Order: sequence, then structure tokens, then C-alpha cells
Amino acid sequence: MKTLGQLQAVKEHKEKISMVTAYDYPSAKQAEAAQIDIILVGDSLGMTVLGYDNTVQVTVEDMIHHAKAVRRGAPDTYIVVDVPFGGVGVTEQYDLEIAVKLYQQTNANAIKAEGAHLTNYIENCSRMGIPVVSHLGLTPQSVGITGYKMQASNKEAAQQLLNDAHAIQQAGAIMLVLEAVPADLASEITKQLDIPVIGIGAGKGTDGQVLVYHDLLNYGVDYKAKFVKQYGDFSVGVDALTEYNKEVKSSRFPDENYTYKKRVMDEDVK
Ligand code: KIV
Repeated sequence: MKTLGQLQAVKEHKEKISMVTAYDYPSAKQAEAAQIDIILVGDSLGMTVLGYDNTVQVTVEDMIHHAKAVRRGAPDTYIVVDVPFGGVGVTEQYDLEIAVKLYQQTNANAIKAEGAHLTNYIENCSRMGIPVVSHLGLTPQSVGITGYKMQASNKEAAQQLLNDAHAIQQAGAIMLVLEAVPADLASEITKQLDIPVIGIGAGKGTDGQVLVYHDLLNYGVDYKAKFVKQYGDFSVGVDALTEYNKEVKSSRFPDENYTYKKRVMDEDVK
């Protein structure tokens, strides 16, 4: 597993950090086998796995349940777990209790929280020893207010984002995820910050990239954002299931290759 120090050093060496989401044991195993640097147990779980319209319905218990499976699948990968909607921004004490619960019960390496208003939270968590990744730009938990669109598209908003990025770094954030912002602004923020900046829909000038597992593998997704590149096609699963269905109905499956030939007693069946 890359340590936080090694991940942060990547920035100095001008290498790139790869991050992908995973939500369960098999996807985590694949990410680790592919030697991805960081797995994000994102609250995109709500759409990709749980079938919700957005991330808002995802609970702390959902995140813990899935992050534990991810840790079992990727024992040797740096894992970041999302603080879901309602898990922060309530009261200082409640927010910290949730942060401790997520960090302690999932055995993740860091938590991720959305929004520029969380500087106190980042300071409090850091003081307790909980590493926090900040998420700025398009923050899907606020989609009811912002909509799904590129952020910081005018001069004032760009300056505000730059200021916010400095503020979260000053508060102690260990990394920044920057979503759906113009590429030149993302590059400028990346240059100005000391912490690694991981982009999604933020161009190639950031220190690393993150994509959602289901998007990059075309696995059960109905919509593809402009910034998503598909590297595989898991929609072939439908063809396989269709074939299986046909073979069962026509009694072609199971043939003798998949059948125990000798009559056996129950206790001998393996
Ligand atoms: O939940 C998620 O998958 C994320 C990524 C889009 C960065 O936050």
C-alpha cells in the first residue's frame, strides 16, 4: 500500500495518482490487482449500486457496510471513504462522532467530505488524527441547489474556488478532489497547492484522476458524462445472461460437462 507520504511525494515527482471508486469485494479486488493507487468508496454508491437517483439517500450505515467489503477485497490499497449527506454539517459533536465511526469501523485510510464550508471540521478531524480529503467544484450532495453542471465558470467563482482550495489546505486537508471545473483553473489550483489534487472532469493538469468504476466499465449505467472514458464493457453480462436463460429453457444447460455422472449419496456430494 502506498502511504500518504508516498502519495503526497508523487506531486513533487510530477507523477500521477490513479484513483477509482469501488463499492464491494470483487471491484476492490480488481482495483488492487490493477495496482490503482487509491480506492474511493464513493457515495456514488447510491446511483451505481443501490439504484437511487442521487447520492442524498445514502446513509452512514450504507457507507460502512460497503467500505468494509472494499477493505476485505483490497487489504493493501489506500482507501478513502465518503462522508455521506447528513453525516456532516449537523453539529460539531455529531459530525465528529460520525467521522470517528466511519474511520474506525471501516479501517479506511481517510475520509472524504464535500464542500468549502468544512474548514473547522477538517481541523477537528485532523486534530483527532483522522485524515480528510476535501471535495470541491461540483459537489453531488448539493446537486439540489447547483444541478449537475460545470462549476466556477466565471471569474468571481473561479477566484472563490481558488480561495476555498487554499482554505481547506490550510485547515489540514490531505488531498483535494476537484470535480467538473475548467481545466485551466484546475491546473492553476494544482500548481498553487502543496497537497495532491485529484481531478474528475477537471482536465489533465491535476496530480491525478478519479473515475467511477461503473462508468469506466460501462456497468449498468444509463448516462455517460462528457469526462467519462469507457475502458471496458461489462454490458456483455446481459448477453451472457440471455444465453443462459435460453439454454435453461431449452434444456441445453446443464449438459454432461456440468453434471455428476455417478449416483452418489448426499454426504459424498462435493
Ligand atoms: O462519490 C463519488 O464517486 C465521488 C467521485 C465522483 C469523486 O465523489
